[in-house]
Formats: sequence, structure tokens, C-alpha cells
Amino acid sequence: MSSACNPGLYNEIGYIPNQEQFIVLQRTFSIIKPDAVRNGHTGAILAEIENAGFRIVSIKKQSISVKQAEGFYAVHTARPFFNDLCAFMASGPLFPMVLEKENAIADLRKLMGATNPANAEEGTIRKKFAGSIQENAIHGSDGEETAAFEIGYWFAGYELV
Ligand code: CMP
Repeated sequence: MSSACNPGLYNEIGYIPNQEQFIVLQRTFSIIKPDAVRNGHTGAILAEIENAGFRIVSIKKQSISVKQAEGFYAVHTARPFFNDLCAFMASGPLFPMVLEKENAIADLRKLMGATNPANAEEGTIRKKFAGSIQENAIHGSDGEETAAFEIGYWFAGYELV
């Protein structure tokens, strides 16, 4: 399977004869959120991501409407912070992106740190760049199903080559 025509979540990249196993690259979805873009942290966050071994499969700068944010965060509809969260996500440009590496979903969550930057470990992206639990600099998919939905919500297959 070649990555050139693989918009899915997994991509076999090699066979290791001695271990008789394939190395499997996994894809995850991430957003550099409007607070981080406004504060000039986009480049620094991308450097953290690349230095951690992720390949940026696709990235774009975009401004979204409140309705588009509501569709993305539909699982949070019942939460008290839902309206504020969607207004925040529509408040300025952001960078949605698809990232790839082994164990991408779990590794990105670790690199991001806890949702609330007050609880995030030293060295994590949210500890360094986030200002509050809502304006927390970066989003990352929390599981395989979520990653598949989120990648498909933001990117067409032809953008993932
Ligand atoms: P994210 O990882 O994008 O997933 C859902 C988002 O909701 C989360 O980051 C925060 O931006 C926001 N969020 C989660 N919990 C709260 C909260 N208690 N108050 C305000 N915003 C929250």
C-alpha cells in the first residue's frame, strides 16, 4: 500500500524480515487553535510536532463559521461550554492538519498535555502555549474513530497524498 493513494488512518511502510512484522504509520488529526495563531505560536508548535517525529501529511490556514465549529464539536453539544467553545473556534484563523507517525494518536495527546494547561506536564505544548482550558492552543483526536471522523470533516482525500 502506498501513501500516495491512502487517505485512511493507517499506512504500512515496511517489512522487517527478522521481526516478521510491518511498521505501521498511524494518522491523527490536529488543530492549532485561534489563540495560538493570534499569539504567534504557530511556528513554534509546528516545530514541536516535527521534532517529535510527526510527518505533516496536510495542513491549511482556515477561518471557520460557528456552524462549522458546531459540526466539528457535535459530541460536546450538551456541555455548558459548547457555545463559547464554538464562538472561540470561529474567532480567527486556525490551522487544521493531518499528522502521521507510529502511534500518532496517543503520542500527540502526550505531546499536547492535559486539556487544562494548569494540569499539563512541563514541556508539553499546552503547558508552554495555552492560556486556559478553553483557549488551549491545540486539539488532537482522542481515538481511532474520532481521528477518522475528524480527518474526513476537514480534509478531502485528494488533500492527503
Ligand atoms: P479539545 O481537545 O479541542 O476538545 C474539546 C475542547 O473543549 C477542549 O479542547 C477545550 O478547548 C474545550 N473544553 C473542554 N473542557 C472545557 C471546560 N471545562 N471549559 C471550557 N472549555 C472546555
